[in-house]
Amino acid sequence: MTVRMTTFIREDSRICLGDALTHYEKWQKPTVIISDGPYGLGSYPGDPETTVELPEVYKPHFEAWSNYALPSTTLWFWNSELGWATVHPLLDKYGWDFRNCHVWDKGISHIAGNSNTKTLRKFPVVTEVCVQYVKRVTFPMNGSILSMQAWLRHEWERTGLPFSKTNEACGVKNAATRKYFTKCHLWYFPPPEAFESFVKYANKNGNAKGRPYFSLDGKRSLTGGEWEKMRAKFYCHNGTTNVWQENAVRGIERLKEQNKCIHMNQKPLKLLELCINASSDEGDVVWEPFGGLCSASIAAHKISRSSFAAEIIPEYFDIACKRLDNYDVF
Ligand SMILES: C[S@@+](CC[C@H](N)C(=O)[O-])C[C@H]1O[C@@H](n2cnc3c(N)ncnc32)[C@H](O)[C@@H]1O
Repeated sequence: MTVRMTTFIREDSRICLGDALTHYEKWQKPTVIISDGPYGLGSYPGDPETTVELPEVYKPHFEAWSNYALPSTTLWFWNSELGWATVHPLLDKYGWDFRNCHVWDKGISHIAGNSNTKTLRKFPVVTEVCVQYVKRVTFPMNGSILSMQAWLRHEWERTGLPFSKTNEACGVKNAATRKYFTKCHLWYFPPPEAFESFVKYANKNGNAKGRPYFSLDGKRSLTGGEWEKMRAKFYCHNGTTNVWQENAVRGIERLKEQNKCIHMNQKPLKLLELCINASSDEGDVVWEPFGGLCSASIAAHKISRSSFAAEIIPEYFDIACKRLDNYDVF
């Protein structure tokens, strides 16, 4: 009897056979989640034929991602426009804050020769979306849940000092009250240096009974470094916009068998590298719950991130494992 391989490991990259839901708890917590799962287009075995079923399919995954994500986690959610619109309210419900919608424009060559304009009742579709979400960070406080903005104000109020003193604490004219401690929508995340300055000031000058201020455990204040990790990483590459013009995968990168594409949904490594580079550092962990040919894991491996992927269909799993084993070729 031959025993089937169910996990393939290459250095810091791991591909698991089976439903991602059964694997999450064994994976290291992610800095990046790349979701390229069901589209509701019936485009591969197991993909529902309409988007109506998508909320039910995704719900347990959104819930799990919320539970395992760090405050610094970014989710890149790939789908069709309608698929994304259908599940966006659910992502929001599970604590994922919308950041940006990126349109992957595959270009006119994607439909060249395939469109009969006499019979079409809409313009040909050459796009998909990749939507960036970040984990909403909240602070439990006396039975209620505060947003980060509200928590900062709450902590300062506890000191008994007027908000104007936050400017003195940060050595600025009015930027601290205007940016970091405002109640309005023009709120900014305080950079670690500013955070350290007002924390130090609060602990020195605030009501002695309330110390430590800006603490999560009531024992010590957060450091600037810890504070920095309370939000998703983002490195903005000059010249990149939210429209990504990139052909569908072709040439040596496109995996084929007997001249036929193995997986219709294979994503370009270049775009996956873009997502991973923008939201993580070397050594960070990338999750790819819906692996297919595990393009995100290949991209992650290439740029020195750890990765954890799952693929439920054994044939795709086998090819993805071989691909990771030989990734240097692609
Ligand atoms: C859109 S494809 C991913 C293609 C992939 N991005 C690539 O470049 O090859 C989605 C894949 O997720 C797999 N899948 C669907 N539900 C899954 C689940 N619950 N756990 C693991 N894999 C799943 C499907 O079999 C399919 O191969």
